[in-house]
Amino acid sequence: MATERTLSIIKPDATKRNLTGKINAKFEDAGLRIVAQKRIHLTPAQAGKFYEVHAERPFYGELCEFMASGPVVVQVLEGEGAIAKNREVMGATNPKDAAPGTVRADFAESVGENSVHGSDAPETAKEEIAYFFAGLELVG
Ligand code: CDP
Ligand code: MG
Repeated sequence: MATERTLSIIKPDATKRNLTGKINAKFEDAGLRIVAQKRIHLTPAQAGKFYEVHAERPFYGELCEFMASGPVVVQVLEGEGAIAKNREVMGATNPKDAAPGTVRADFAESVGENSVHGSDAPETAKEEIAYFFAGLELVG
């Protein structure tokens, strides 16, 4: 499998509970390398643009408000099959369905406040990385 990069976000519910290090340890233990990372505070408009694909969904307003409610850590994870591997480490969207030991099983508070975002495909990974990082910030 090819080396890939994927966009990860540690969401406000997790930064608020000081879980960045514990979540990063799960990524690193799974063989994912954090090749870029920064802590930022999104505006609702910036969160809305990021989640534009969900604009018609009933939870969109709440999701944008939540993502702008506190700092997030945006990061680029690199590794063999990184997109699927990160989705595995994250666990299912709803923490009730997440496999034991995944980030969401261990840390998520609800289906909305579920601690992490991860890109779902190569094309979205590329777009999402470019939304947050300039080429010069990706040091490998
Ligand atoms: O994050 P993931 O790719 O697993 O799920 P998604 O279907 O792409 O949804 C994006 C985000 O919207 C989720 O991570 C949740 O924070 C939120 N969401 C929600 O609040 N209620 C739902 N029923 C589904 C998703
Ligand atoms: Mg998604």
